[in-house]
Amino acid sequence: MQNRIVQIDKTGIDALKVGTTSIPQPAAHEVVVNIKAVSLNFLDLMIVKGDFPTGLPFPYTPGCDGAGIVTAVGEAVSDWKTGDRVALTYVQNFLAGEGIALKDAVRIGWQTQGVLADYVTVPDYGLVKLPDSLSFEEAATMPVAGVTAWQGLINIANIQPGQTVLVQGTGGVSMFALQIALQAGARVIATTSSDAKAARLKTLGADAVINYKTHPDWQEEVLRLTGGIGADVTLDVGGKDTIRQSLQAVKVNGWVCTAGALTGSEITLDVYGDMNLNFKRLAGLAVGSRESFRDLLKAGIKPVIDKVYPIAEVQAAFRELESGGHFGKLVITL
Ligand SMILES: NC(=O)c1ccc[n+]([C@@H]2O[C@H](COP(=O)([O-])OP(=O)(O)OC[C@H]3O[C@@H](n4cnc5c(N)ncnc54)[C@H](OP(=O)(O)O)[C@@H]3O)[C@@H](O)[C@H]2O)c1
Repeated sequence: MQNRIVQIDKTGIDALKVGTTSIPQPAAHEVVVNIKAVSLNFLDLMIVKGDFPTGLPFPYTPGCDGAGIVTAVGEAVSDWKTGDRVALTYVQNFLAGEGIALKDAVRIGWQTQGVLADYVTVPDYGLVKLPDSLSFEEAATMPVAGVTAWQGLINIANIQPGQTVLVQGTGGVSMFALQIALQAGARVIATTSSDAKAARLKTLGADAVINYKTHPDWQEEVLRLTGGIGADVTLDVGGKDTIRQSLQAVKVNGWVCTAGALTGSEITLDVYGDMNLNFKRLAGLAVGSRESFRDLLKAGIKPVIDKVYPIAEVQAAFRELESGGHFGKLVITL
């Protein structure tokens, strides 16, 4: 039996190739997982295209988000057995608590080789057990995007029923944010660049949708929709071009949880006008812990999957992610 593996030997989507290698064996404290599904994140795209300063050791296997079946365990492993349905945690050594320093964190598909392979090994603490109700495709969407939205909205902003949550765009993180907010009993205002996606957002339960292309001053629309008060919380995914508007879109004492940098990561703020004088709170986050992943699983959210690709079409999946045409998550099956 062989281990299909996606690798790049230089940066670029064209460099993504499916090869084969031997099946890894577990060390004493390791688990071997037969990966059944991998979901793509904007981060994977940045890594493959070389837009992220990782200093990749080529050949490199991308992929941060994987789910599958345990096929072997090391001699010192007691928590897992062959046949267990699992997902890998993204920040492998962030088990619980508020945060972990960049210098200490071990992230899959960034500080280690990624998961786009039939078989991978992980430490026995770097997994969560899946409920039977969740398919591998669904589970694979959660380790990065789902846990990020959970960290921002639940752990940091502690959203409450009746609050207003602003979610931005229809990518993986924001679609989880929409679902988590609705489940918490919040009112959701969403933004998107597409009227077709706006209709789908409404179907999923968004109370109001703003097209941020036709309404470049979308924060004014958020204020209008909230009677001039502003949203309680937003999860900012844009970074450079959106952060000031996000701060202007939230109310006095409101939260801007900053997850992403789709438009760039260097921001300019008027700390008094944009933030301090209205007691606004800006919080950074980098995904979340294994404990948060378990909490997200308990919440029973059904992820929004746009398209599923076989591994042979890995380049097409990355190109679709690059186009931004997706709604929710893109998944690759193995
Ligand atoms: N800090 C963390 O823990 C963390 C974790 C995960 C991801 N991230 C970051 O969060 C960002 C989103 O990641 P993702 O994987 O969810 O990306 P994604 O799935 O590729 O999301 C892309 C979508 O974002 C929307 N978008 C693009 N520019 C926008 C803008 N100026 N304003 C509002 N929406 C915009 C678009 O939606 P429409 O087509 O609807 O306009 C686009 O389709 C990335 O920067 C990623 O690196 C951070």
